[in-house]
Amino acid sequence: MNPTSRQHACVFGLGWGDEGKGKIVDLLCPLFDIVVRYNGGANAGHTVRVGDETFALHLLPIGVLHDTVTSVIGPGVVVDPLMLLSEIDELSGRGLNLNGRLKISERAHLVLSYHKLEDQLSERAAADGTRIGTTARGIGPCYADKMRRNTAVRFVDLLRNGDLADRVRRIVSDRTAALTAIYGEDVELDAEAVLADLNTAKVGLASFVRDTTEFLHQAMDTGRSVLFEGANGMLLDVDHGTYPFVTSSSTGPHGIGPGAGVLPSRVSLLVGTIKAYATRVGSGPFVSELEDEIGERIRQRGKEFGTTTGRPRRCGWFDAVSCRYTARLSGVTDVALMHLDTLSGLDRIGVCIGYRVDGQTLTIPPADVNMLERAEPVIEFMPGWHEDLRSVGRFEDLPAAAQAYIDRIEALVGSVISIVGVGPERSQTFVRGRVSDLINMPKPTVTQQTP
Ligand code: GDP
Ligand code: IMO
Ligand code: MG
Repeated sequence: MNPTSRQHACVFGLGWGDEGKGKIVDLLCPLFDIVVRYNGGANAGHTVRVGDETFALHLLPIGVLHDTVTSVIGPGVVVDPLMLLSEIDELSGRGLNLNGRLKISERAHLVLSYHKLEDQLSERAAADGTRIGTTARGIGPCYADKMRRNTAVRFVDLLRNGDLADRVRRIVSDRTAALTAIYGEDVELDAEAVLADLNTAKVGLASFVRDTTEFLHQAMDTGRSVLFEGANGMLLDVDHGTYPFVTSSSTGPHGIGPGAGVLPSRVSLLVGTIKAYATRVGSGPFVSELEDEIGERIRQRGKEFGTTTGRPRRCGWFDAVSCRYTARLSGVTDVALMHLDTLSGLDRIGVCIGYRVDGQTLTIPPADVNMLERAEPVIEFMPGWHEDLRSVGRFEDLPAAAQAYIDRIEALVGSVISIVGVGPERSQTFVRGRVSDLINMPKPTVTQQTP
């Protein structure tokens, strides 16, 4: 095969996270050689259910669950080394050995204890209405240090920088002064404890650290195929999301450039995941939110409680306005519509087709978060269905109302729905076609259905 003809893919969220990315990456893993995380950190929680076993990964790419795959944590990921070590240990306790199958970029930044403390202090001190509702994983403060540059610590520093101890002592002393001044609390940070954490990180992780950018380029140039695993979701994107109620990274396929060192234009299969309804964890505008018994019903049926923090997820009707926006921003080639099964049992199902605000009806999300907070949803209702969908394996076997719902979302979003999720199990997903005909590869384990 001509090496350059191999297609690369990205799975990313079109919503506010938790769209089922983990499950879709897992489904596609048998078709790829390498899986790469390129953004975010332990704020992510990607779940895969295989029979009685559930895997919820925060920092490790889902590729680690497949022994034919090499997993990469790219330069754009902010890594909490202690959490990563405990994730690696947990998997090893479950029989998964990552030696030789995991590579961590030497350019990736480290999330340290003072980042997590700052995340908590800043949330605690925020005035009502301005609290982001972060995952408290230190994500924002670590990315802030990365941009500030002279207060950041990268893996390469851990391995090669002789004066790291002095630098860390200076950083910790600066952060102590800054946090005490800002939050008015006596902040006690212990530089020696941070250094001990860094030493633990070095001992446990050094063997995985390397130049992943060069590794990826060589791999792609010699015909290996790469699947990029986005974290969070495009409505949480730092530039394009519902700012400031967002995370601190580029969450869509455009993040592959900075986050993995690969031009996004080399990635031709852009698989955007979204649920058949909308969810959000944390604060921020949510125009189609259902704060009633239907929202509660969706939460219970869909088990909508955060993988990372356990917080109940806010639930609402599918938001076609924001999904069309993120579909367009990302250039999505295939949509994976998840959790269709969760909507069973409703007499009618709403879809948000416009935002009514200040006397206008908007069909593109405004940048102004206050406008979004004031907006009322324009809801179109469609007939629901009562059948249990969890054993459905083909589009044609869905109830007519569910087929009509999928067709309507396709038309509103303007993208093809190639994959449908009908349950949490690895097997409860069917492919209608595309993802470029499952990449012209006759590989096993993916349930392929012709439309
Ligand atoms: P991610 O962050 O995008 O990987 O998504 P999460 O793993 O945080 O959340 C998705 C949740 O929905 C997980 O608990 C999955 O097991 C579950 N899930 C994924 N797809 C489906 C589906 O089609 N139906 C149902 N009922 N559950 C699903
Ligand atoms: P996955 O990859 C859902 C949300 C947080 C908060 C905001 C900022 O599992 O889809 P942060 O800790 O990043 O500073 O929090 O972003 N958030 C997520 N919500 N799924 C995620 O990841 C998320 N990552 C961040 O709840 O509102
Ligand atoms: Mg998640």
